[in-house]
Amino acid sequence: MKTFKLVIVGGGSTYTPGIVTNLLTKKNEFKLHELCLYDNNKERQETVGVIVKQLVKRLDPELKLVFTTDPEEAFTDADFIFAQMRVGLYKMREQDEKISLKYNVVGQETCGPGGLAYGLRTIYPMAQVIDYCEKYASKKYWIVNYSNPAAIVAKAMHMIRPNARILNICDMPVAIMQLMAKILGCELKDIDVDYFGLNHFGWFTHVRVNGVDRTEELKAYVKEHGYLPPVPKDQLKKIEPSWANTFTNSKYIINMFDDYLPNTYFQYYLLSDYIVAHEDKNYTRANEVMDGREKHIFDTVAEYKKTGKMDLQQFMDIHGEFIVDVAMSLAYDQNRRFLVMVKNEGAIENLPDDAMVEVPAYLTCKGPEPVRVGKIPTFYKGLIEQQNACEQMLCEAAIEHSYKKALMAFTLNKTVPSAMTAKKILDDMIVANREYWPELK
Ligand code: NAD
Ligand code: G6P
Ligand code: MN
Repeated sequence: MKTFKLVIVGGGSTYTPGIVTNLLTKKNEFKLHELCLYDNNKERQETVGVIVKQLVKRLDPELKLVFTTDPEEAFTDADFIFAQMRVGLYKMREQDEKISLKYNVVGQETCGPGGLAYGLRTIYPMAQVIDYCEKYASKKYWIVNYSNPAAIVAKAMHMIRPNARILNICDMPVAIMQLMAKILGCELKDIDVDYFGLNHFGWFTHVRVNGVDRTEELKAYVKEHGYLPPVPKDQLKKIEPSWANTFTNSKYIINMFDDYLPNTYFQYYLLSDYIVAHEDKNYTRANEVMDGREKHIFDTVAEYKKTGKMDLQQFMDIHGEFIVDVAMSLAYDQNRRFLVMVKNEGAIENLPDDAMVEVPAYLTCKGPEPVRVGKIPTFYKGLIEQQNACEQMLCEAAIEHSYKKALMAFTLNKTVPSAMTAKKILDDMIVANREYWPELK
C-alpha cells in the first residue's frame, strides 16, 4: 500500500487535534509515513503540539512526527497538505465582526464585510502555500483547503494559481447532514443529497435515506424546529447556544422559501436585520471562541503539564472526519461522492463557467468530477449571481490593488445597505488591516 507524507498548515489550529485523531484512527486505511505540522506561530503550534504528541503516542507510536516553521522542511516531498490557516488569528476576526457591527451590519467570520476583510488577508498567504508546494512537494501533491473564507480563497486561487492542485472544502453541509440524519433517525452514511450554490451560500434540493427520497418530510420538520434535532434536552445542551440559534433560524427561511433546504449561513444574508438586532456588539462570536474552544485547548495542555493526564477521546469530530475521508478518496481513487467547491464549467448550467460552486462531486486520484445540476430558478440564481459578483470584485481588488473594486465588493454584499455604509466599513477596515492587506489605491 502506498504511504504518504501529510502536512498540516496551521498546525497550531484548534482543529488540529480533531484532524489528527481522525487521521490516526484510520491509520490502516490511510497510511502515513510522516505527519508534519507547519505554522508561522511557533509558540501556538508547540502548545497544540503537546496534544498531538500524546495522540501519536497513543494511536500510532511508530509514525514520524515533525513540527516546523520552516517551509522547505515542511513541504519537501509532501503528498497531502491540509490547510487551515487563520491569517490574523482571532484578534482580527474580532475586528472583522466588531467593525461591521459598529455600522449595524452583520459581523461574521466569513459572511458580510468581515468575510471580505478575512479574504483580503488570506489570498496571498494561500498563494504562497501553493508556491511552496510547487517548489518542494511531490509532483502529485494535493492541497485540501479548509482555510476561510473558503469561497474567496477558492475563487482567488483559480484566478492567480489556476494550475494548483487544490481542493477547497467546507464542513457545514456535512454537519447539517449529520443533523438531518438525527432528525430522520438514520446514520450519516445512509444519507445522500443533491445540493447547489456557492460556499456558505447553497441549498439542499433532495435528501435520500438509503435511496428513498425523504425531502418533504424533512422540510416539514425544519419548518417547525429548524435543524435542531429531536434529541433529549441534556444532549441538546451540548450544542453551543449560538449554534443552536443558527440551527433554529433556518426555520424562518424555509417558511418563506420552501423550494429547498437552506444552508445555515443564509441567516446572515436573508435575516440580516434580525441577526444584527440580536447580536451583542461588545461580545461577538470571536470572543465566544476565544473563551470557549481556544481556552479549552490551552487549559487541556496546562492541565496535562500539571497532572500528566489528558482525555484523548474528546477530539473525534465531523470536521476531522470529513477532510480525512475527502483526502482518502483522492489518495486511493475511491470515487466517493462529497459536496466540495469546483469550477462551475457548466455544472450549474445558467451560472458563469468561472464561478466556484459547491456541488456534489466524485473524488478520484485525478481530482473532483462534479455532477451536472442543470438550470436553477431565477430567485436562487439572482442571489448567487450577486454573491459571486461580490466575491469576484474582492478578488480583483486584491489582484489589482484597487480601492474602487474593494468598495464595489463591499457594496455588492447583500448584508450591506448602501454604498455609503460600505465605504465607512471599508475605510475602518483598511486601518485595522494595515499589517495584512495588499495596499488598495
Ligand atoms: P486558529 O487561529 O486556532 O488556527 C489557525 C492557525 O493558522 C494558527 O495557529 C495560526 O498561527 C496559523 N496561521 C496563520 N497564518 C499562517 C500562515 N501564513 N502560515 C502558516 N500558518 C498560519 O483558527 P481555527 O479556529 O482553528 O481555524 C483554522 C482555520 O480553519 C480558519 O481559517 C477557519 O476559518 C477554518 N475553518 C474552516 C472550515 C470550513 O468549513 N472550511 C471549518 C472550520 C474552520
Ligand atoms: C462552520 C463553517 C466554517 C466556520 C466555522 C465557524 O464549521 O463551515 O467555515 O469556520 O463553522 O465556527 P466557530 O465555532 O469558529 O464560529
Ligand atoms: Mn465552512
